[in-house]
Amino acid sequence: MRNMLITEKSGEINFDNAATTPPFKNVIKAVKEFAPFYSSVHRGSGKNSRISSGMYEASRSEIMDFFGASSERDVLIYLKNTTEAINKLSNQLACSAGKKNIIIATSMEHHSNDLPWRKNFSVLYAGITPSGRLDMNDLETKLKKNAGRVRLVAVAAASNVTGYVNPIHQIAELSHKYGAEIFADCAQYAAHLPFDMKKRDAADHIDYIAFSAHKMYAPFGIGALIGPRKSFEGAPDYSGGGTVKFVTANELIWDEPPNNQEAGTPNLLGAIALLAAIKSLKCLDMQKIAEHEAELTDYAFKNLKSVVGIKLFSDFLKPRIGVITFNLKNIYHKDLADALSAKAGIAVRSGCFCAQPYVQRLLGLSVEEINRYKTSVSLRRPGMVRISFGFYNRKKELDILTDFLQNY
Ligand SMILES: Cc1ncc(COP(=O)(O)O)c(C=O)c1O
Repeated sequence: MRNMLITEKSGEINFDNAATTPPFKNVIKAVKEFAPFYSSVHRGSGKNSRISSGMYEASRSEIMDFFGASSERDVLIYLKNTTEAINKLSNQLACSAGKKNIIIATSMEHHSNDLPWRKNFSVLYAGITPSGRLDMNDLETKLKKNAGRVRLVAVAAASNVTGYVNPIHQIAELSHKYGAEIFADCAQYAAHLPFDMKKRDAADHIDYIAFSAHKMYAPFGIGALIGPRKSFEGAPDYSGGGTVKFVTANELIWDEPPNNQEAGTPNLLGAIALLAAIKSLKCLDMQKIAEHEAELTDYAFKNLKSVVGIKLFSDFLKPRIGVITFNLKNIYHKDLADALSAKAGIAVRSGCFCAQPYVQRLLGLSVEEINRYKTSVSLRRPGMVRISFGFYNRKKELDILTDFLQNY
């Protein structure tokens, strides 16, 4: 499987797939092959422009299909990444929120699925259990207490800190029961497990999702937001070229979604790359990818548990993706990450992974400790080391990691 990647011969062991993934060879090939035809989307009359516009528009339906979105109900809006998608969703939903001015996020979110909501809504956070999993009872209590005032439940489909997969369809059913919609942040999920938004008439359907192509083996600066077309009609949060049907000096008619929501020249090569990545993922088979990564994750836990002085920050229960966080003895997380790179050729991530509230909870920091870190410029910030797998990682790479940690 590894030979599907462009980094096949780089020599480094990459356990930092949760941050970003290397490109598929097919992605690079698709971009190269399309390059001679690259031209302006929507605006030109040349042959290449027509080919480019056709490719750009056609890519949407195949990508929507991959996530089980409905081509009648939903629209796919291309954006830079998950972060930009969530900001757009927050801005768009704020326009029509009315009395529904509450978002329920969770205490395990990436900052990108937290801060954009704070700007436009009152945010409540569903709590977590002692092992860091979403507390479904607390979520339901908050939904019940605020029924009729919650616009949306915003939840990670999979955590970038613990790898836990949330029961999104169960959360969807609960959210709908209390009059709210659901947004699933699929940044960590999309390249690792099959996903299905389900039909709109299913009580547990997912209303909105977002994801980033650079975490799906297609790092060409694109991501997408999928959701009901009607939520994106009218004035967009960000306007300019390509967003209108008609303009005079004092009048305008907005174009239909997705055009009204994609201001400026679109990222066509990004869309080509994402489409090629999805074709490769389908060809590898998402179920097989999930099984391989689950086997790797089991193996990793089994090995890591035996390392003297290791502290693991999640349980091993499924469903989960291959993201594992830990600290070793009293070694500072960044020092360990640097040593892994310098001495064992292993790339990992360390720190708080843009999920500071969650990491603070998992580390068991007190309010006093958090305040000390907040105001000090000299204190080294607490954190963890994270390893995260892609479909191409292998057990023998994990053996090298375990050996290194055992002997460090
Ligand atoms: C769970 C989660 N959500 C959102 C994001 C933001 O993704 P991006 O940086 O591609 O916008 C990340 C990035 O790591 C993530 O892990």
